Amino acid sequence: MFAVPYTLPKRPKSSLISYGIYIGKDKELYSPVFWNIQESLNPHALIVGPTGSGKTELLLALALRIHSIYDVPIVFIDVKGDILSRLRSRKFNFKTIRPGYDSLGLLYPFHVLPKQRALQLADAITQCWYIGHNHRTLSLLYEVLKLGFELCSYPSWEDLIALARSRAKSYIEASIIQRIFEELEIVDPQSNLIHPLMKLKNEIMVFDLRSLPKERTEILNLISLMTFQDLINKVSALKPDYKQVVRAVIAIDEIWLALHNIKYSDLTLSLLRLSRGYGVSVIMATQSFKDLGDNWSLYAENVALLAALSSTSRKFWYEIAEYMRLSKEDVEKFMTLMTRGDAVVRILPDPRPILVSVDIGDIISLPKLLIEES
Ligand SMILES: Nc1ncnc2c1ncn2[C@@H]1O[C@H](COP(=O)(O)OP(=O)(O)O)[C@@H](O)[C@H]1O
Ligand SMILES: [Mg+2]
Repeated sequence: MFAVPYTLPKRPKSSLISYGIYIGKDKELYSPVFWNIQESLNPHALIVGPTGSGKTELLLALALRIHSIYDVPIVFIDVKGDILSRLRSRKFNFKTIRPGYDSLGLLYPFHVLPKQRALQLADAITQCWYIGHNHRTLSLLYEVLKLGFELCSYPSWEDLIALARSRAKSYIEASIIQRIFEELEIVDPQSNLIHPLMKLKNEIMVFDLRSLPKERTEILNLISLMTFQDLINKVSALKPDYKQVVRAVIAIDEIWLALHNIKYSDLTLSLLRLSRGYGVSVIMATQSFKDLGDNWSLYAENVALLAALSSTSRKFWYEIAEYMRLSKEDVEKFMTLMTRGDAVVRILPDPRPILVSVDIGDIISLPKLLIEES
């Protein structure tokens, strides 16, 4: 589990941390630490830490600094309202999307063909409602969506419900599909009329999911997944620009609520991999690796920036140790040294960690500061 003693210098490569997105001060050397996205493996970050350790603050700081430096849109998935309240108190301008009031565009083929939309939606519903094991319901779902988008490029929930009733071979299958569509109609009644990301340029947009019951993970997950998918759809339709490593940011706080399905599915992981190619930066925060289920090592390897926040749990550190080259001594040191707002940060391709005191101030970008290699 622990890395064997090695002779390499302990600090990460200077070019990875001396330029780019400002994170904070090196807690030992007091020098500024950056995340150089250009040099890092991908533009994704995963923040892990117990409640109150500073996850939401770090998520906000990273996402807002990327948004500002690259001049790109940013979409927040806010399940608890923490993002909204902090953006408000810091006087940021942003647009809010609320389920039930604003269109979520689930039935709007957004930068994809209608038949692709049918597949994207069917795949996401299958992941969120776990109907994969029920073959007849599953095939009815795909059939209804495929046919619905064939008959009309912008079908309504009623159209789809009517189709489900007419195509179903049994009452039970029809009812399962109908119930799912009815629930979605409540949260997204104007689904086929307009898409929320349509006009998004370089602004901040918050999907305010506070009103959704937290135990209805199916709905929370579907909205989060489809928003993620749609941001990728949007960026994939842009003119390629190889100089621009980041073209949009999606920041998902409390992924154990927003993407509960992460435990069971590969869909989130494949979206994460896909978004790297299109330059969609994904910033996620969660309480523990357990929230990511069996796939957690894949997540740790598929995000360049892994930040572990202050925790007094040895188990927490042991889980993280192998992804950050931490020795037993490091763990003991971090457990005594770290306080709220401190983070052990690792930026791939360099697995060597650095202890940072995260700066949550309004510093959006510092001058292009390059630190001499010491
Ligand atoms: N880097 C930091 N510097 C100073 N204060 C911080 C820092 N990070 C967090 N805090 C303080 O701690 C509180 C809790 O942080 P928060 O990000 O909400 O934690 P979490 O999301 O992990 O529950 C914040 O309201 C803020 O006042
Ligand atoms: Mg939080």
